[in-house]
Amino acid sequence: MDGSDLRDSLAARFADPPDVPDDLPGADILARLAGHASCRAFRPDPVPDAWLDVLCATALSAPSKSDLQGRDIVVLRDPGRRARLAALVSGQAWVADAPMLAVFCGNNRRQRLLHEWQGVPFANDHLDAFFNAACDAAIALGAFVAAARAMGLGCCPISAVRNEAAAVSDLLDLPDHVFPFAGLAIGFPAAASPISMRLPLSATVHADRYREDGLREAIAGYDAARRAVQPYAVQRDVARHGATPDYGWSDDKVRQYALPERDGFGRYVRSIGFRLD
Ligand SMILES: Cc1cc2nc3c(=O)[nH]c(=O)nc-3n(C[C@H](O)[C@H](O)[C@H](O)COP(=O)(O)O)c2cc1C
Repeated sequence: MDGSDLRDSLAARFADPPDVPDDLPGADILARLAGHASCRAFRPDPVPDAWLDVLCATALSAPSKSDLQGRDIVVLRDPGRRARLAALVSGQAWVADAPMLAVFCGNNRRQRLLHEWQGVPFANDHLDAFFNAACDAAIALGAFVAAARAMGLGCCPISAVRNEAAAVSDLLDLPDHVFPFAGLAIGFPAAASPISMRLPLSATVHADRYREDGLREAIAGYDAARRAVQPYAVQRDVARHGATPDYGWSDDKVRQYALPERDGFGRYVRSIGFRLD
């Protein structure tokens, strides 16, 4: 992989890709990152244990808010536990066929234990405690996915583990203040996955200050461009919204979030001890 692969990936991803200088340092690594695609179909080959160990160590080398290190990875090495986790992820049959599953957790418990052990009150029992741990888990997940790709592995995060957060916590023996952020399916890809288009950089990268000028037109253009390259195979909730020939990303996201999703998650988070004020 090199600068031309990087150019190709960015051109497939964005309607307005940046210029890639010929002498860009690290172009091979950037090409790997820019070529990211989630993988949901795997060869049956197992992922070697030693590879998983290295991947976890690499992922946990990623930045951490205030060096709090508020995240953990539970690797489900036991097939029985993997099957139980897959059974909790409703509507995503492919998860059961993933050779390996892990759950990335936010962890604010360790910080609270330090306070307990040193007899110093924890004075930050508010939203930040949850938010910091969730961000730390997300950063580690992103690093794991990128590292796995460098090893020829494919991954797909699974936020659906939060649909059954309490049951997943029970399965993994998570104590209070430790919560599942996302699952991750890991394995050797059965086939190359397509690059999925992102919103134009003109809409998501801002110079000096946030702007929304032309956002509606930019999204309409994105919908059309994405429809031409990767039309959605299935339209959501046709019974309620009807079928439309120009179904696009924005229709899909509106239909998705027109139905309540995980509206019990806040209750679960409070039930494991977080105050979210
Ligand atoms: C935190 C997180 C949770 C996700 N959860 C799911 C999931 O439950 N099921 C799924 O099929 N994909 C899931 N994904 C993958 C996204 O759908 C995917 O990243 C997005 O469609 C963009 O596609 P790409 O990753 O191939 O570029 C998740 C991604 C993230 C970052």
